[in-house]
Amino acid sequence: MWYQNILQAIGNTPMVQLHRVTKEVPATVLAKVETFNPGHSTKDRMALRMIEDAEKAGKLKPGYTIIEGTSGNTGMGLAMAAIVKGYKCIFTTTDKQSKEKVDALRALGAEVIVCPTNVDPEDPRSYYSVSSRLERETPNSWKANQYDNLSNRQAHYESTGPEIWAQTEGKITHLVVGVGTGGTISGIARYLKEQNPNIKVWGIDTYGSVFKKYKETGIFDKNEIYPYITEGIGEDFLPQNVDFSLIDHFEKVTDKDAAIYTRKIAREEGIFAGNSAGSAIAGLIQMKDRLSPEDVVVVVFHDHGTRYLAKMFNDDWMRDRGFLEPEVKRAIDCISHRLHLPMVTVEASQTVGEAIHKMMHFNISQMPVKSGAEFVGSITDQNLLARLIDEPELRGKAVSEVMQAPFAFVDKNLPLPQLAKQVDKKMGAVLVKLDDETVQIITSHDIIQALA
Ligand SMILES: Cc1ncc(COP(=O)(O)O)c(C=O)c1O
Repeated sequence: MWYQNILQAIGNTPMVQLHRVTKEVPATVLAKVETFNPGHSTKDRMALRMIEDAEKAGKLKPGYTIIEGTSGNTGMGLAMAAIVKGYKCIFTTTDKQSKEKVDALRALGAEVIVCPTNVDPEDPRSYYSVSSRLERETPNSWKANQYDNLSNRQAHYESTGPEIWAQTEGKITHLVVGVGTGGTISGIARYLKEQNPNIKVWGIDTYGSVFKKYKETGIFDKNEIYPYITEGIGEDFLPQNVDFSLIDHFEKVTDKDAAIYTRKIAREEGIFAGNSAGSAIAGLIQMKDRLSPEDVVVVVFHDHGTRYLAKMFNDDWMRDRGFLEPEVKRAIDCISHRLHLPMVTVEASQTVGEAIHKMMHFNISQMPVKSGAEFVGSITDQNLLARLIDEPELRGKAVSEVMQAPFAFVDKNLPLPQLAKQVDKKMGAVLVKLDDETVQIITSHDIIQALA
């Protein structure tokens, strides 16, 4: 079986249970991983639907130019469909969007005009105004207008919603979705609430956007609007695709938390998703106390992590914005480079001479002393040296006769400052037990190296 063209590969994306990143959430959490669409985002669904509806309505005809203001993902879907169907594309986007997104649109043959972010939507320089002007000036053109074109939410009502219902076998209790045009959340929510009106729908908003206040007060407050970093969600106007009656609650997430959770999803679940997935998971965690173990939560992961390589997945970018916490080094980090090597120990019954030989051979200054499986003592070169000068005959005696107290055990996750206090002049090393039950030594030398 094969598809006639790439557009037939849109939809039927997988649902994947999350474990680590949502471990604080007392519910089953499932991600609807929309990165599996051929344009790597959920927007493929609505882009195709908007084009097909426009074709049916006679607004889009062979040879026409598709015009749209897009942050990237809708553009990918439109550009892909335009290639298959034979249209040209001109997109306007903002200078806030990832370079990767703009490059990807150009890779698919679209013309992209980058406009300033920090201007009102009505400003002639805004990406909304420029796209409207282009539509007026370009003969045989059609503007998709994803914000107010209701084919957008219809696509999700007809495909994403039924997929989620079927994949959860009707068990879904909560839907969590980042809201931009509102198409994804409103379309899915309408379908799901028709199946089960008790399903709760939580929209994820960002600081700098108008949605939450409007939902809660009915007031469109311009004071809520300011520039933000989070991509894909939040708006400074009310798109017609947002059906506020279907959204039970809006939760705002900071740029920092959205960025941190975007990275966590990749590192803790192995799912390489975009920034709005991070917002959605951070928002879900903020709302965790409203959930119980019987609940089944579906979170939409809109797009792919590759679009954010130069941003949320770049340490310098994160650090420049104060989004990276200073790294706390722990005991285990001091010895991570030599975990594959077994620790050198000496038996209490061996002679001091044998112990000295071992220390010289392995070039070490201290050793734990064992009796079978037990750690019964310790020896250090400084202590041995002092005693051997006065009593050379000690070489032939058992280690048990000269050893000092055993090194203390510390937790492998003990932060470095506390660890350093334990490894003082008197006790030049400590021991840690690892997950596989083996034991390793951490010396003052290891700590100095870790600090360097
Ligand atoms: C990455 C990303 N996340 C979330 C959204 C929000 O989806 P919707 O516009 O359907 O509300 C978008 C929309 O552009 C997006 O690109």
